[in-house]
Amino acid sequence: MTFKVKDYYYQKAKKENFLARSVYKLDEIDSKFKVIRKADSILDLGYYPGSWVQYSAKKVEQKGEIVGIDIQNVSIELKHLKNVKLFKKDIFEIKNLVDIDRLEKFDVVLSDMAPSTTGIKCVDQDRSLALVEKVIGILPDFLKFKGHFVIKIFDSHDAQMLIKNEIKKKFTSLHLFRPKSTRSVSKEFFVIGKEYLGT
Ligand SMILES: C[S@@+](CC[C@H](N)C(=O)[O-])C[C@H]1O[C@@H](n2cnc3c(N)ncnc32)[C@H](O)[C@@H]1O
Repeated sequence: MTFKVKDYYYQKAKKENFLARSVYKLDEIDSKFKVIRKADSILDLGYYPGSWVQYSAKKVEQKGEIVGIDIQNVSIELKHLKNVKLFKKDIFEIKNLVDIDRLEKFDVVLSDMAPSTTGIKCVDQDRSLALVEKVIGILPDFLKFKGHFVIKIFDSHDAQMLIKNEIKKKFTSLHLFRPKSTRSVSKEFFVIGKEYLGT
């Protein structure tokens, strides 16, 4: 079963010229929660190899823009996209908009970041949570009031506490969602925050 699911989305992405199968997760999220609109500015954290950038660039059209950040070398596959700017940076180096040569906050912040895993459950959960906490910490400087937010989270007790005690109060509405294109063995799910309250 796991193989069939992997195979199906992997083959589909290949056939449709997407750089990763993760594109179908964003597609499902966006279809259900209406996160990305025409002309939006998008910050894509952990964008590499870039299927979310491909999806977003199409959705925002020429008037929109995408800024991608990842620790990986800048993707040459995305160089032809005019409204896309990419940075090779560690999220932990980013403090404010100046770090990405920008003046204006974003309409949407996306994070599909995943740490390199060790296979030791508590270490991997801690690393994942550190990424989530970092993103939440910089939101006031990067996300516009009433903007939308999507973040990947690996399930754990601490992650659930963070959602309940911290993330929930920052948005008008909050949704927890596991796209059907997620691999069945994965502990990941997505948190979708609609209408950021700016705090
Ligand atoms: C699952 S991949 C993202 C796939 C991407 N959304 C796509 O559609 O192609 C997760 C990415 O998070 C990045 N990442 C992990 N830790 C990071 C960090 N500290 N700063 C920036 N990017 C990071 C990894 O390098 C990796 O490329």
